[in-house]
Amino acid sequence: MPHLRRLLAPLAACLVLALTGTGSLALARGDSSQNHADHGTRHATDHRCGPNDYSAWDEEWLMMSIQGDLFEIQGGQLAQRQATTDKVRALGKRLVEDHTKSLKDATELAERLGIDVPDSPSPTQQWMLRAVAQFHGRDFDRWYADLEVHDHKQDIKEAQDEVDKGCNPDIRDEAENELPVLKEHLQLAQDALASLT
Ligand SMILES: [Fe+2]
Ligand SMILES: [Fe+2]
Repeated sequence: MPHLRRLLAPLAACLVLALTGTGSLALARGDSSQNHADHGTRHATDHRCGPNDYSAWDEEWLMMSIQGDLFEIQGGQLAQRQATTDKVRALGKRLVEDHTKSLKDATELAERLGIDVPDSPSPTQQWMLRAVAQFHGRDFDRWYADLEVHDHKQDIKEAQDEVDKGCNPDIRDEAENELPVLKEHLQLAQDALASLT
């Protein structure tokens, strides 16, 4: 369907730009009208929360992290069904495994602290999954790997921000524990993309 593909390519390009643009966090990761830059001025803390206290920044990071896990799991499942190369299928499988684990950890933590647990990826993430699913063959592999490269760059930045500026010790630990996993995912996605171009 060449016409559809002509439409989708620029859409997907916009998407990647939206993911990587300054202040795109709320757009890319959640429905909140606030973003981390706002929190930086209003909610950055001096790390003195007790184990049962949390800042608005902590809450937003944890909820976005859960939405991100749901996004990665659905994307990884899609890649296992639709990718044409072993590398991209393996990337999808690995993302499902690791993000299923981090979803469990983050959900338990949110429930303990009384933070809402999102039950689906953000609307923008759902749209991205629908958009990438329109590609087939090597085009799919390329767009999926490219999406995961950009997404994990953003995820790493957000997790580091939580480590640096978060308040609740357990949420900050969760972010810190996520960082090496996210960096490995970025490397895997970059390798998969490089093998296709
Ligand atoms: Fe992600
Ligand atoms: Fe990941």
